[in-house]
Amino acid sequence: MAAIFSLFLFFIVSLLIILSFIVRPRSVTIPIKFRHVFITGGSSGIGLALAHRAVSEDAKVSILARSTEKLAEAKRSIQLATGVEVATFSADVRDYDAVSKAIDESGPIDVLIVNQGVFIGKELEKQSPEEVKFMIDVNLTGSFNVIKAALPAMKAREGRGPASISLVSSQAGQVRISITLNAVS
Ligand SMILES: NC(=O)c1ccc[n+]([C@@H]2O[C@H](COP(=O)([O-])OP(=O)(O)OC[C@H]3O[C@@H](n4cnc5c(N)ncnc54)[C@H](OP(=O)(O)O)[C@@H]3O)[C@@H](O)[C@H]2O)c1
Repeated sequence: MAAIFSLFLFFIVSLLIILSFIVRPRSVTIPIKFRHVFITGGSSGIGLALAHRAVSEDAKVSILARSTEKLAEAKRSIQLATGVEVATFSADVRDYDAVSKAIDESGPIDVLIVNQGVFIGKELEKQSPEEVKFMIDVNLTGSFNVIKAALPAMKAREGRGPASISLVSSQAGQVRISITLNAVS
């Protein structure tokens, strides 16, 4: 009986080891040199820093955000730093048609970085329903809009190397960070 149990245990453990090997996360290197990198929210903060970096690595960069003034300033700062012009697109990610038009105009994307994001830094019970909706519309629905608009041309690319879609988020969405608990304790 003990032998059968040991055999069964051995079988289960072996299966788990094989499965964990198959599904283990693997890092993939996506080349960006001479490739089209499209960054939403690329006119400031992390998006702008990513745009600078991608341009310095010889990517063809497009940035999308709402404010034309901020986009122009971002374009100027990248040009001053690198001598390279990035393409800019003014659109609100909440507006699918506007996003789709911008993405079509920019040409097929190799690397899409969905980085736009807004956060109203208050505890949930102090946020109005409109503020909550605003964050969901920009952060969630806006991201779906961007990806949906970009996917057909990204999938249709031929012989252009691996494509990639990245979403920028907060660690607060990955680990347990609670503003409410901190405020209460
Ligand atoms: N900074 C942090 O400490 C931090 C921490 C955790 C996570 N993150 C995440 O990192 C990402 C970038 O954050 P950040 O601090 O660098 O942001 P940021 O400096 O505030 O920049 C946000 C960018 O998104 C654009 N944007 C905002 N609403 C938009 C809309 N409706 N449609 C299109 N573009 C829009 C902004 O331009 P316009 O206003 O002109 O549209 C700007 O280019 C966000 O997703 C954020 O949630 C940041």
